[in-house]
This record gives sequence, structure tokens and C-alpha cells, in this order.
Amino acid sequence: MSIRIAILVSGHGRGSNMAALIDACERGEIDGQVVLVIGTRREAPALQRAAEKGVPTCVISPRGLDDEQYARRLLQALEEAQVDLVCLAGYMRLLPAPVVRAYAGRVMNIHPALLPLFGGKGMYGEHVHRAVLESGMKVSGCTVHFVDEHYDTGPIILQRCVPVEEDDTWESLAARVLEQEHQAYVQAVKLFAEGRLRLEGRRVRILPSSP
Ligand code: GRF
Repeated sequence: MSIRIAILVSGHGRGSNMAALIDACERGEIDGQVVLVIGTRREAPALQRAAEKGVPTCVISPRGLDDEQYARRLLQALEEAQVDLVCLAGYMRLLPAPVVRAYAGRVMNIHPALLPLFGGKGMYGEHVHRAVLESGMKVSGCTVHFVDEHYDTGPIILQRCVPVEEDDTWESLAARVLEQEHQAYVQAVKLFAEGRLRLEGRRVRILPSSP
């Protein structure tokens, strides 16, 4: 059964992970369809990019709303679009708890480091890669995980590693990680669509493909 996917992006998101997911659905690599991209601001480059790809978009701004009101609007949009899976892609906020609960085990996020290292509030973009370089780590990478009610702490689905090179700047490291992000996110969503992810406590078991 083909799954219906919604992608959430934030105000300034460029949307490269979003585009990777949309393209993988178009190619038939993922048995699914991106049915809605939700942004927090109309000006988001990601929304423009989604519209150019013919994917429906909408703006749900949290500004002036309390958490409960914001959650209600998100839930309404997701329910109307009959979404099976929610993918956060450059979504900078904490997803409101009622949404996490309503879609438990059905919300994913991608993070540009090897969690549980270099995650948490304020750890995004440049901050992550600078922290990795300062730590002296010889490898970095990306993590796709299920979303819980905190930043970057949900069960890990997939990780990919990249080397940290001697002459890396945060920009060169970010670019190397981003390439892996696109592949890892597509792979994780593909596994979800195939019904091959099983949550066992904090571990995500990847089931073999059916013959
Ligand atoms: C990515 O690095 C992702 O890991 C993080 O936010 C960034 C979004 O980039 N959550 P893009 O908008 O997908 O290009």
C-alpha cells in the first residue's frame, strides 16, 4: 500500500531533504507520495521548491498561537490530507506533544550528526558541525530517528558516517554530511513504507524484505 507523506519545514529551510524525498517518491523508489508540505512561513524557499514540483503546500504559523492551538491546526491539516507518515526536514521547532502522541511511531526527523552526540536544543546547522570539529571527532554523519517529545532523543532508525578530514571547515563537513542525509532519509522512509521498521523499546529493528 502506497503511503501518504507530509513534510514539515521551517521558515528559512532550503528544502534539500524534502526534495530528495519528493524525487524518490516520483521515481518509485519509495512506495509513497508526498501529499503536503507544511511550512511555518510563506517565504520559506522550501515551500517554493515544493510548489515547483507540483506538491501541495500550506503555511501554518505558530506565531500568536499557544502550543495547543498550533497543534490543533497541524493535526487538522494532517488529518485532512490523510497522512500516514510525517517527516521533519529542517523543522526547527519542537513538534507539539499532541501531534507527537497522535502520530506516535509515525514522525521522523533527520539530524546532521551521529546522535546521541551533538543533538538537543540549539544544535542545528553550523552549530552542530562546529561542535564536531571542536570535539576532535574523526567521524561525523547523520541520523534518522523517530520523533518524541524532546529534541533529537527519539529512537534511532538509521545512521551514516563520513570522515572528518584534516582541513575541514564546518561548511565542507556540512556538505559531506548533507549528501549522506539525502540517501539516509530516502532509505528510512522506504523501509517505513515497506512496513520494515519495528519499534522495540528504544531500538528500531529493521526487518528483512519479504521475498
Ligand atoms: C539538514 O541538515 C537536516 O539534517 C537538519 O536541517 C537541515 C535541513 O536542510 N534537520 P535542508 O533544508 O533539507 O536542505
